[in-house]
Amino acid sequence: EDPETTEDDSPVCVGREEDIKKSQRMTAIVHDREIVIFYHKGEYHAMDIRCYHSGGPLHLGEIEDFDGQACIVCPWHKYKITLTTGEGLYQSINPKDPSAVPKWRSKGIKQRIHTVTVKNGYIYVTLNKTSGLKCDSDFYATGQFKVIKRSS
Ligand code: FES
Repeated sequence: EDPETTEDDSPVCVGREEDIKKSQRMTAIVHDREIVIFYHKGEYHAMDIRCYHSGGPLHLGEIEDFDGQACIVCPWHKYKITLTTGEGLYQSINPKDPSAVPKWRSKGIKQRIHTVTVKNGYIYVTLNKTSGLKCDSDFYATGQFKVIKRSS
């Protein structure tokens, strides 16, 4: 057995491509982690379902573009998270020049992004936990904060 491979690394089938193309989003539990998958402008994006800020339900948010980047806007406090990288975006204001147009900046990767693959019309999600990088959203991805309860 390859010691580098754990069960958590295996792709999990979360549904049919046909269905997510209609609904534009779906939720899934992937190896005990709650995930939201978005279908946006022909691409799939998966991330932890609970917002890194305070655990808001990202699957209920709207997708909007900020500074040319598609973001999910958390329904709780309107934090913006890029779909492709999980970066938190904010607008910075120069205190020395309050009249200047605020600039969009990144706080860095805050929300854990997962890998989506499509095979024979089915969507698979592979957890991205191997990077060693800690994400703020990890806090809400486990334990008592889970929003979706298992049916079994
Ligand atoms: Fe998402 Fe506060 S919980 S913005």
